[in-house]
Amino acid sequence: MACLPKRFIRIALLGLIATVPLVATLAAPRSDPCNKIAGQEFVPPSDALACLKSFSFNRTLQNNVMDVVSGVLDFFTFEDWYFDSPPPFQESTLNIPKELARIRNTRYPTDYDFNRAVYNFTNRLNDGHTRYLPFCYLNFQTRLPTPVVTLERNGTQAVFVMPDLVQVISNLPKGFTSYFDEIGFDWKRLAGAKVLEIEGVDAYAYADKVASMESGQYLDHGVRINSVFSSYSLSKSTFSQRFGDIAETTFPDRDTLTMKVVPANSTNVETIEIPFVSTYTGSHFKDKASYWRANCLARGDTNGADLRSSTSFVGEPRQPNALIIDTASTVRLPNSFVPSLPTLPEDSGVVKSYSLPGRKTGVLFVGSFDADFNQFQNDIKTAIETFKSAGVTRLMIDLTNNGGGYICLGQFLYQYLAGTKFGYPGFQTTSRANSLAQKILAAHIAQNHTNNAFSWYAPDQWAFLNDTKMPFDFNYNNPSVPFPINGETDPQSIRFHDNCPRFFYEPIPKSPPFDLSNARCGSTCAMFSTLMFERHQTKIAIFGGKPGLQMEYKGMAGNQVLEWSDLNTEFKTTGLKDDPWAPPDLLVNANMRHNWRIAWSFLNENYPIGACAQNGT
Ligand SMILES: *[C@@H]1O[C@H](CO)[C@@H](O)[C@H](O)[C@H]1NC(C)=O
Ligand SMILES: *[C@@H]1O[C@H](CO)[C@@H](O)[C@H](O)[C@H]1NC(C)=O
Ligand SMILES: *[C@@H]1O[C@H](CO)[C@@H](O)[C@H](O)[C@H]1NC(C)=O
Ligand SMILES: *[C@@H]1O[C@H](CO)[C@@H](O)[C@H](O)[C@H]1NC(C)=O
Ligand SMILES: *[C@@H]1O[C@H](CO)[C@@H](O)[C@H](O)[C@H]1NC(C)=O
Ligand SMILES: *[C@@H]1O[C@H](CO)[C@@H](O)[C@H](O)[C@H]1NC(C)=O
Repeated sequence: MACLPKRFIRIALLGLIATVPLVATLAAPRSDPCNKIAGQEFVPPSDALACLKSFSFNRTLQNNVMDVVSGVLDFFTFEDWYFDSPPPFQESTLNIPKELARIRNTRYPTDYDFNRAVYNFTNRLNDGHTRYLPFCYLNFQTRLPTPVVTLERNGTQAVFVMPDLVQVISNLPKGFTSYFDEIGFDWKRLAGAKVLEIEGVDAYAYADKVASMESGQYLDHGVRINSVFSSYSLSKSTFSQRFGDIAETTFPDRDTLTMKVVPANSTNVETIEIPFVSTYTGSHFKDKASYWRANCLARGDTNGADLRSSTSFVGEPRQPNALIIDTASTVRLPNSFVPSLPTLPEDSGVVKSYSLPGRKTGVLFVGSFDADFNQFQNDIKTAIETFKSAGVTRLMIDLTNNGGGYICLGQFLYQYLAGTKFGYPGFQTTSRANSLAQKILAAHIAQNHTNNAFSWYAPDQWAFLNDTKMPFDFNYNNPSVPFPINGETDPQSIRFHDNCPRFFYEPIPKSPPFDLSNARCGSTCAMFSTLMFERHQTKIAIFGGKPGLQMEYKGMAGNQVLEWSDLNTEFKTTGLKDDPWAPPDLLVNANMRHNWRIAWSFLNENYPIGACAQNGT
């Protein structure tokens, strides 16, 4: 109905008689594509997209977002590395300043298209920490009822619709399956179907395309292949299944996906158009205007705050975080797939432990480092003690789909397994020392910000390389240290350490661990597994990927992520918000997060972890 008025006006001009009913049509409110889907939980993606595309392109908002995105990227540690990404990560090579200029100078058809372009650009960096997230447009989970997996059958790998489809899908809300019942689509019969082609190309070639264009988050292409297929994960404390990026899109882009399949128990090749459905997850709205108000305007916490007068200004520092934000949803794993092997008692939160048959091998599934800080340490201690008293002699650590979390919890787990004799349980680290970063640090020192509970720049958050805490007035950005890369020379801070050990309270045993994951192991998780490999040559197994494709055991670099509100809080709390280099507050409900610190490899201290290939096989 969206094009109604134009067409009718033309007819109206043809003859007087036609204008009579037309006046009534034009007087009625124009159809509102958001109103059309309001109150519905499951809608066709094109209806969701019509609502998202109903907001006009607005130069003011474009300039505002681009000012913030560009301003944040001045702090992004890897900006210069992207001019020529080192092998095997050449796919991520991108001229960031040029892309920023291109997007700023393009007139987009709608505000959605503009936001999508910024999202696409940051997504192409394949850096789990550095992303633009336009929350206004991230409210529809768009899913296919037939997630696909890569399996080996009869000695060859191929793509299949997940064989346990019916059990998994039945854990979704009833409305999901009723939607397909209503449109008469029988997805159940596709359980276990072999998928030959998707959208007219070989199924693995399609997986490659999605991994290149849509998955983002991990530098390594092979790891992104694992993102496109369905995989298990721990979601909060529940064993779950992620749909994968073929069967779930971040935006309601497509109504259908065409697959050429051989259904299970059949030899017939069929080409089937499988419908996607979009599930609304945002705040309540009834029309376009209320959608915008509910989802798109900056919120109270979008832009951080000047905390100098806040009661929480002084105190224990917050824990630095390195965490991926996965916009994808998960579904609870059917009980029949939850490990039924003897489960060890503590089993709370993000750590699950059980032993394999024979009870010689203990499995520690660390689903995340984003957990209650003390409880996590306690869980690890209990798990290891229980393994020992149960006679377990080998330890396997499953890090599948671990998106990271508190940096100090990664360091804790490392030190708990490796022992204190290896010293500092982390990497040397630096942040960029551009002119604004220098002013922020100098301002904290000038204003005597000591024991400051929020600031990531405050020197007393960090330690020297000898692991003594920096005094609050130690300026680690002055003098700065030039670091030449790809023809650019960017000033950086001196190298320093995290201050984690002061937060550890458990005694440290020794055990030779084995580390297992599908390499979708992000942020703090990647730092943990890198330490295990670089310092202890821990045996690392990765699974999934694509036949014949080399895969790295970890897919990302980086040390600490700052959200836009974190960085903006630094500008505000140092009184630097009016500095010409400081970006304005965001006018919209969005986040531009970035990787703020590099973790330098233990093996080659001129390379960030993850920036050069190191095979763990
Ligand atoms: C563009 O956005 C700004 C900021 O929200 C607003 O003040 C202005 O009215 C908008 N312009 C148009 C043409 O809608
Ligand atoms: C964003 O990327 C998708 C492919 O992943 C593409 O279809 C779309 O056209 C891109 N949109 C913009 C505005 O760049
Ligand atoms: C595997 O081989 C068996 C025996 O040849 C055959 O019945 C079955 O269909 C094959 N499975 C697949 C997935 O190709
Ligand atoms: C294929 O056959 C097996 C064995 O009869 C049955 O359990 C399974 O449900 C069938 N699969 C489909 C998709 O019909
Ligand atoms: C910081 O502390 C020094 C020494 O105690 C004092 O002289 C100075 O006035 C203080 N500055 C501020 C901004 O409080
Ligand atoms: C640690 O290193 C810093 C900076 O080099 C130095 O000032 C400090 O005295 C050292 N502390 C110890 C205990 O060696």
